[in-house]
Amino acid sequence: MIMTAIPEYQDFFGDDNPAGLIARYGSPLYVYHEAILRRRCRELKNLIDYERFTVNYSVKANANLSLLRIIREEGLHADAMSPGELFILGKAGFMPEQLFFVPNNVGDDELQYAVDHHICVSLDSLDQLERFGRLAPGSDVALRINPGVGAGHHVKVVTAGKKTKFGIAEEQIDEARAIANRYRMRIIGVNQHIGSLFMEPSAFLKAARHFFSMALAFPDLAFVDLGGGFGIPYHKLAGEERLDLAALGRGLNGLVQSFVASYGKPLTVKIEPGRYIVAECGILLGTVHALKENNGTTYSGTDLGFNVLARPMLYDSWHDLVAYRDGQPLEDLQTKSVTVVGNICESGDIIAADRKLPPLRSGDLLAVLDAGAYGYSMSSNYNNRLRPAEVLVREDGSSMLIRCRETLEDLLRAFPG
Ligand SMILES: Cc1ncc(COP(=O)(O)O)c(C=O)c1O
Repeated sequence: MIMTAIPEYQDFFGDDNPAGLIARYGSPLYVYHEAILRRRCRELKNLIDYERFTVNYSVKANANLSLLRIIREEGLHADAMSPGELFILGKAGFMPEQLFFVPNNVGDDELQYAVDHHICVSLDSLDQLERFGRLAPGSDVALRINPGVGAGHHVKVVTAGKKTKFGIAEEQIDEARAIANRYRMRIIGVNQHIGSLFMEPSAFLKAARHFFSMALAFPDLAFVDLGGGFGIPYHKLAGEERLDLAALGRGLNGLVQSFVASYGKPLTVKIEPGRYIVAECGILLGTVHALKENNGTTYSGTDLGFNVLARPMLYDSWHDLVAYRDGQPLEDLQTKSVTVVGNICESGDIIAADRKLPPLRSGDLLAVLDAGAYGYSMSSNYNNRLRPAEVLVREDGSSMLIRCRETLEDLLRAFPG
């Protein structure tokens, strides 16, 4: 099956095609599709019909300024892990009351940044709570609770449970309240995030049920935040089903209604998805530069190193690939097993191992699907390579540059003198 079999992707490149875009903006290149981005925002905004439901976009997934502006236009709020993320969100037009700072292990300077900008902070350990109390006594704060069970597609993205660094354990809640009292802080929010990329509603609903029962212990809540982790089908070319949002919404609706009734006063219910919002609106394009047979393995050498897309190297993640020649997807039915590698000086620099693809030639282009989340935002200058440009395909089919390709001069920017 090729990409054109997926209706949503049929006009992905708008009036252009991968070859035209690469000729204009260079290779590799991140391309985003505005209509898909807006659709994903709306799907989650409509997840439940509770009036005080808010979707906080988790900006770590993708912090492109133009995409953030679209996400804000769609009525989402945002959560951030660092002053840098808060800063860019401010530049995208988010107001302080639309932002939530969810850091871990930070010093006074980062906490002070949030205080100075009137942004609500979540503290993720007793020590951090104490630190915040010293810095800003009398504040309203939130606590990140670790519910004791986590979930995720890889051990590195499970963010709750006994074996992670995140959150305040349930057994520490009384102590946390004592610290808050000592510094006259009001706990107005509790949040959790169990991990990334669940494809079944059940894990999230189970965690939400438990979380709501814990939240009842806090009398002054203005909001509860259930975290993100909503998965997307990375194997869509093989027909992987989407996360059943309707079922998730039904289950969550029920839990929210009964929690709000038990809590006895109205409060905001938030989620904080990153991947679900931006992954599928992004495709990474790259170019095949070399082919090689090495001891029985066929390698296709590209400019898609792990400096551009780290997920396969970091988590052994799968991304569907589509090959293009002369602007058209290769529909050649004879596929061949190939290992697609990048141009970084490490043997782990593999985008896809043993993948069935049409026989590739030098000059062919590869489209890496679902690259919008944790793609550019995790890219680096390793090997002193330049980060690529980013382009937005607008709803009218035109494309516009939304981030310039770095230049060699950019590599000098941080050196004094
Ligand atoms: C605290 C927190 N919230 C939200 C997210 C977003 O997760 P996802 O992109 O899987 O929705 C993360 C991801 O690491 C996170 O750590």
